[in-house]
Amino acid sequence: MQIIRDLEALRAAVAGLRAEGKRIALVPTMGALHAGHMALVEEGQRRADAVIASIFVNPKQFGPNEDLSNYPRRERADAQMLEKHGCALLWAPPVEVMYPRGFATNISVSGVSEVLEGAARPGHFDGVSTVVLKLLNQVSPDIALFGEKDWQQLAVVRRMAIDLDLPVEILGVPIERDDQGLALSSRNAYLSDEELVAARALPRALGEAAATIGRGEPVEPALAAAIARLTEAGFTDIDYVTLRDAATLQPIDALGEAPARLLAAARMGPARLIDNLPVGPSTNV
Ligand code: PAJ
Repeated sequence: MQIIRDLEALRAAVAGLRAEGKRIALVPTMGALHAGHMALVEEGQRRADAVIASIFVNPKQFGPNEDLSNYPRRERADAQMLEKHGCALLWAPPVEVMYPRGFATNISVSGVSEVLEGAARPGHFDGVSTVVLKLLNQVSPDIALFGEKDWQQLAVVRRMAIDLDLPVEILGVPIERDDQGLALSSRNAYLSDEELVAARALPRALGEAAATIGRGEPVEPALAAAIARLTEAGFTDIDYVTLRDAATLQPIDALGEAPARLLAAARMGPARLIDNLPVGPSTNV
């Protein structure tokens, strides 16, 4: 697997794949890869002839008090994992290649970016949209894969791709979980063994609320019960446990025609964890 760090070499490599008639998939990441990321790579293999992964810890999507400087960086192990999963190429630009001197452009998707994570992390989705648009322009893939783990990020990227007529298919990949249901995340590494066990209350509480709401029971008490479970398990700073329209992320107070999603964010010890589940009459948890 080739590791490429400058734009000219990337363009040449992509042109080479295109000359071979290959359909290209892009999996954008910030590294510290785990089985969740590999689910995206594997889905990319099924949908394209060549998978390009990117690793770039994007400073623009971290707030001033977030974990940019502590964010785990282990490119060698990441590259080995990608190679094992058959990635054709790793795009790993240094920050000065992604944001050259004088960089002054910001991509901001209004509405869907402003709520939930966007409200808790001002500027976060502008940083994500800006870097994802750049990655799509740099690689020009046929398809780009994003995890449902970051449901709102997926919704923001989908909105941007529609609004800006991007010639790429945006595909969401289901959340990869451990055997106890906890969504895999690089940030789980910040948790102690006890916190890791306690964190499992998050998928459980969401699963129960999704089932209750899916049966047609009132939404508010189901959400309140989930919040109580999280508090009991030791979660603090419960930012939200909420039922939303799956595409716009606007609040809904009952199930309707449009797909609905249950989303939560809360702190367990040092880590802010997020999770989400689909909710509908057919939800079976
Ligand atoms: P990162 O957190 O590294 O995640 C890269 C991709 O892996 C995202 O699409 C994320 O949703 C997906 N992912 C992470 N854990 C997952 C899991 N347990 N199951 C399924 N998919 C999972 O998300 C980012 O990086 C950045 O914001 C990025 C899109 C790369 C822009 O900088």
